[in-house]
Amino acid sequence: MSFWSRHQIFEKNSIVLVAGILVVIAIGGLVEITPLFYLKSTIEKVDGVRPYTPLELAGRNVYVREGCYLCHSQMVRPLRDEIERYGHYSLAAESMYDHPFQWGSKRTGPDLARVGGKYSDEWHVTHLNNPRAIVPQSVMPGYAFLSRTEVDEASVAAHLRTNRAVGVPYSDDQVANAGADLKAQADPDNAGVDAFTKRYPKAVARNFDSKGGAPTEMDALVAYLQMLGTLVDFKLYNEKANLR
Ligand code: HEC
Repeated sequence: MSFWSRHQIFEKNSIVLVAGILVVIAIGGLVEITPLFYLKSTIEKVDGVRPYTPLELAGRNVYVREGCYLCHSQMVRPLRDEIERYGHYSLAAESMYDHPFQWGSKRTGPDLARVGGKYSDEWHVTHLNNPRAIVPQSVMPGYAFLSRTEVDEASVAAHLRTNRAVGVPYSDDQVANAGADLKAQADPDNAGVDAFTKRYPKAVARNFDSKGGAPTEMDALVAYLQMLGTLVDFKLYNEKANLR
């Protein structure tokens, strides 16, 4: 049997053809995708990227729970109009500690990957309480209940441990002090602030919801929003990469 007559098996029998196509695509896919799991260069190491503080992680959990990702993406695409509107395009390393990542695929509202530092804490609290107070045409729902809901402090250490199980490098010290760090970050007068900033360099302790008492989910969500996109110093990054 010549090569061409053997090939007729595929040409004359559609099921065999489909099976053959699947085998070939599977091999191609494996060759392209498998190395990405082993290559160190898949996620380039970038200075400044650190795991979330307990309060930020709690805020991130609120973000996921409330489905903010259904209307907001967190990935600036490397396209000119995106970069002019939002800033430097997102780097893989910026979401390396996100489990699951919040890139999103729908933008009813703007991208939030670089929203940190764009507005004051007070702006965020007012906006989250009632978006229409700031943007009269806004279709974003209000989340006023977050100011009245305390963060579940008892579960925060477990959240750190769970993230550690999937590869986020939290130290034993960070896990053991998760509850104390959560409180310290939401209260700049707390005695634990120094220990907190030692464990999370450059993280800021502020009273995000400007209310006294135990940290609320509003504190946590605003702490999270205010650090988004602020970890990498893109001035240094652009010089190194010779961009702009
Ligand atoms: C139904 C869709 C929808 C949902 C859900 C939603 N948003 Fe929005 N968001 C919008 C729209 C539309 C805007 C633009 C108008 C405005 O500022 O209110 C916006 C604006 C924002 C802004 C201002 C961004 C900027 O750069 O000006 C922030 C911050 C924000 N949303 C955070 C959140 C958070 C946090 C959640 C979840 C708790 C959330 N949003 C849920 C639609 C949504």
